[in-house]
Amino acid sequence: MRITFCCTDTAAEPWLQGLRAALPNAEVTLWSAGAPVADYAVVWAPPQQFFDEQSQLKAVFNIGAGVDALLKLQLPPNAQIVRLDDAGMSVQMAEYVCHAVIRHFREFDAYEADTRQGKWSFRKPRARADFPVGIMGLGVLGARVARALGTFEFSVKGWSRSPKTVDGVQCFSGAQGFQDFLAASRVLVCLLPLTADTRDIMNRDTLSQLQPGGYVINVARGAHLVDEDLLALLDSGHLAGATLDVFRTEPLPADHPFWQHPSITVTPHTSARTLRSESIAQIAGKIAALQRGEPVAGVVEAGRGY
Ligand SMILES: NC(=O)c1ccc[n+]([C@@H]2O[C@H](COP(=O)([O-])OP(=O)(O)OC[C@H]3O[C@@H](n4cnc5c(N)ncnc54)[C@H](OP(=O)(O)O)[C@@H]3O)[C@@H](O)[C@H]2O)c1
Repeated sequence: MRITFCCTDTAAEPWLQGLRAALPNAEVTLWSAGAPVADYAVVWAPPQQFFDEQSQLKAVFNIGAGVDALLKLQLPPNAQIVRLDDAGMSVQMAEYVCHAVIRHFREFDAYEADTRQGKWSFRKPRARADFPVGIMGLGVLGARVARALGTFEFSVKGWSRSPKTVDGVQCFSGAQGFQDFLAASRVLVCLLPLTADTRDIMNRDTLSQLQPGGYVINVARGAHLVDEDLLALLDSGHLAGATLDVFRTEPLPADHPFWQHPSITVTPHTSARTLRSESIAQIAGKIAALQRGEPVAGVVEAGRGY
């Protein structure tokens, strides 16, 4: 069995060593143009030439959860795409989102500004019930974030494509549930995959339907958010702020207004990083399962885009 590795912006050697150790019977090599065809590929942002040459792939393992970039390429007809299925990302995402929600709800930025000036200030406690948190996307990451927020006793709402039941979460689904979901939320967390249906989903119309003083946390993809609509609603006062980890162009261009906006916190796409050993263990386990003819989790349905 041959495995080819083609990951842009990734140090290859530790991955190759890890995959060889986990699958001692496999021949694991770094792809270069003209390399022999392989059975399986481990990829991140490969060039189209990679798939043009690797025509016999049975499965393509993406070392991230989002496959929007991969689906823009032409893959070999029989290759299934398998995304990372948690692999240590959901706990990081729960940390990130809980931190952002609590930092906003407890006004920690305002306290920090005061204490930096030597001011011993108190603010009237805000009511938790006034900060319902709505999570768009109740998949691997969204459901984990919902559970984590529940432990802090926030009122948690969730929205997905198909109807779902998640303990402690008021669940909405589909187009018919979207407006009720937005109206029930003050803090909005985006954990959707980027598809034709979800591109630009956070826009002037939808964000206006959040409760007044709304707060946006985007940890999915930059193209879910219409940047200028967010800025307009912050200026109008309908929204109170945003924490953004993902952007339409990454790195975020130096002259982008998000950098300097007083109500926006920017982080450099770091909310849930790919963890190498967890990911190698998961991919190796799935390759072994596929070799035995068993089904694996995390297979992307090309038609729905995630
Ligand atoms: N910032 C980062 O560092 C980072 C890291 C990892 C992942 N991500 C992003 O997070 C995304 C989510 O990851 P995941 O592993 O949780 O994905 P997932 O398990 O596939 O879950 C996706 C969720 O979104 C819902 N959904 C999809 N299309 C929808 C639509 N049109 N309307 C309503 N709901 C819709 C799905 O509904 P159903 O349950 O009905 O299918 C599902 O609940 C990834 O695609 C990636 O872009 C970002």
